[in-house]
Amino acid sequence: MNQTSPLGSPSPAPELRRQAIALESVVKRYETGGETVEALSGVDLTVQTGEFVSIVGPSGSGKSTMLNLLGLLDTPTRGTVRLRGRDVTELSDRERTRARKASIGFVFQDFHLLETLTAMENVTMPTMFDRDRDATDRAIELLSRVGLADRTDHTPNELSGGQKQRVAIARSLINEPEIVLADEPTGNLDRDTGATILEEFRHICDGGVSVIAVTHDELVSEYADRTIELIDGVISRDK
Ligand SMILES: Nc1ncnc2c1ncn2[C@@H]1O[C@H](COP(=O)(O)OP(=O)(O)OP(=O)(O)O)[C@@H](O)[C@H]1O
Ligand SMILES: [Mg+2]
Repeated sequence: MNQTSPLGSPSPAPELRRQAIALESVVKRYETGGETVEALSGVDLTVQTGEFVSIVGPSGSGKSTMLNLLGLLDTPTRGTVRLRGRDVTELSDRERTRARKASIGFVFQDFHLLETLTAMENVTMPTMFDRDRDATDRAIELLSRVGLADRTDHTPNELSGGQKQRVAIARSLINEPEIVLADEPTGNLDRDTGATILEEFRHICDGGVSVIAVTHDELVSEYADRTIELIDGVISRDK
């Protein structure tokens, strides 16, 4: 049941108010060549606003599958995906894309920067099709926030691995997402550089954005509020 705020607009029930994203009884099966693989077998996960969650588990345990569902890049076979309390499981492709763009940023192991663009241009890239928007000021602010104010005109080949990942983090935040999803964000970085990236994620969470990182790097769990372990498509640990 919805409650009504003093301003008259409906607001979600208290337990949903801090909920950034949730999976409810999620099953994901892949059908390939007549064979069925059950990658997730009934997963329940709620990530709160501002929470930093790491997802660990052996190869093939369902981590990427789970990240794809949380990123609205794929849909579950059964169960429900909720974005800030809203059921987004049955959205059309177009609506799902819109929800993803508005709410979710992505960071990848190998940065996914465009080599011919400057740091600044890489950060503003996700706004390219918003004809009426000039994201330059926000990009400068974000690059400053990640310590790259003096690198805005550098191309990726003129940046270190850690700097490239900072550009990628700035880019993930350009549309003011509620959630940042990261796939092995420290995988290509040495330990010290990885630590600075994880500190960056902590800052992001302190600013009210949820960060969910899939990783084999044990250091990530030291910075995370919570570590989820997947084994054979089931959550075997959550603390
Ligand atoms: N598109 C697909 N089609 C068929 N099977 C798939 C597909 N994607 C994943 N799988 C299967 O689902 C299971 C979970 O895969 P997933 O990629 O989620 O594992 P993971 O935990 O990310 O592994 P890794 O640590 O190796 O990246 C595996 O058995 C995998 O073979
Ligand atoms: Mg994977």
